[in-house]
Amino acid sequence: MDDAPLPSLLQLTPLNEVYKADPHQVLDDLRARCPVHHDAMSGNFVLSRYADVRQVVSDLDMLRDPTNAEEGALLQRRFLGNVDPNLPRSSVSSILTLDDPDHARIRRPLAQALYARVAKFRPEVERIVGETLDALEGEAEFDLMDRFCVPIPIDVIASILGVDHDRLGEFREWSEGLIQGLNPFRNADQTAAMEAAGDSLARYFTESLADRRRAPKDDLITDMVRLQAEGAALNDDELRINLIALLVGGNLTTTDLIGNGVRLLLLNPAELAKLKADPSIINAVVEEVLRYEPPVDITGRIAHSDMEIGGCPVKARQAMTVSLRAANRDPEVYDDPHAFNVSRKHKPHVAFGGGAHICIGAPLARLEAQVALVRLFERFPDLALADPAAAEWRTLPFFRGLERLDVTV
Ligand code: HEM
Repeated sequence: MDDAPLPSLLQLTPLNEVYKADPHQVLDDLRARCPVHHDAMSGNFVLSRYADVRQVVSDLDMLRDPTNAEEGALLQRRFLGNVDPNLPRSSVSSILTLDDPDHARIRRPLAQALYARVAKFRPEVERIVGETLDALEGEAEFDLMDRFCVPIPIDVIASILGVDHDRLGEFREWSEGLIQGLNPFRNADQTAAMEAAGDSLARYFTESLADRRRAPKDDLITDMVRLQAEGAALNDDELRINLIALLVGGNLTTTDLIGNGVRLLLLNPAELAKLKADPSIINAVVEEVLRYEPPVDITGRIAHSDMEIGGCPVKARQAMTVSLRAANRDPEVYDDPHAFNVSRKHKPHVAFGGGAHICIGAPLARLEAQVALVRLFERFPDLALADPAAAEWRTLPFFRGLERLDVTV
């Protein structure tokens, strides 16, 4: 492939059939030929080496807000499309694309409340996973994505937020409607559906905030209202945007972590046998799934000053897209990187990014995947892929997960 043109960022998405079938055919070649590649189409440097990716995401001074990117950073500028430039950024954007001081001001209380909830949430995750498995009893074949991987994260976050049982159906529908928020190439209809779901959720959270002020409950919304009352400086708009961000950022990604994990274990019976023999290794299993088949392809940063990355000059305000997927299979860091090996000596992967923006939901996603995988294989020890040769990957750019996963029990 030496003389072939280097891929654009668009070609590093499942819209490119070669990438969709095997991203590493493209990423290995890119990393070997040009690990710091300037892609003119997106106006971004694309980084594929572990060391460079780590350097960039760990640098706490890097920027994220697209208004801080140079004009030529077309990918970032795309997100500014319909946004009123007179509004404060924190009223239109979640923490994902805010810079300090707003980012730290909003993330700190949210993380404090979320981490405390997740730390005591294992029994509730066990209950939700158990009930989801109960509903499958007696069936011989089903789509595991639809029946297991999709509902679990939505029901878990609904429980964390204290969604009433009688509103769970609506809440599930809205949560699924938000998926297009992750698609930078969505069409007008998809945008309209996503906006309708977003409006319903914003109304729902407005009501919930008022309810919890009147009658506190044991849930994350009450925690946030309490932190506000105790002086945490974030207003209701900011709260609503960031509660919705937990749904946008957390549901599909965790669904894909569970789905990718089940598929990998079924395709690698020796690795599955290790888990069945000793379920206490589940931690290592989930970390290897995150390394090998991370649900999120990329994240990004904007240079805060002139700098050098991997020996290449990058100017202040230039944008960088880092390939988490490529970094996780860098042969400089991982022996035999394309082998799925749950006994591998642990070297931290970058599936959750890093630094100031490291995924706020990582502890929750890990907990859900650990419980889901252990309980699934306990309940259905003969679980098998209906068609081991089939892999229906979704076409959503920058995410990797299965459209469906037909299994027999
Ligand atoms: C396996 C599941 C998940 C994966 C692979 C994942 C991946 C990521 C990545 C790569 C980032 C960007 C980090 C960076 O730029 O350094 C991120 C940020 C974020 N994630 Fe996750 N995520 C997952 C689950 C969740 C869950 C369960 C939630 C919510 C409960 C969540 C909410 C967020 C939020 C709000 C951010 C923005 C954080 C910030 O910018 O400060 N994610 N996630």
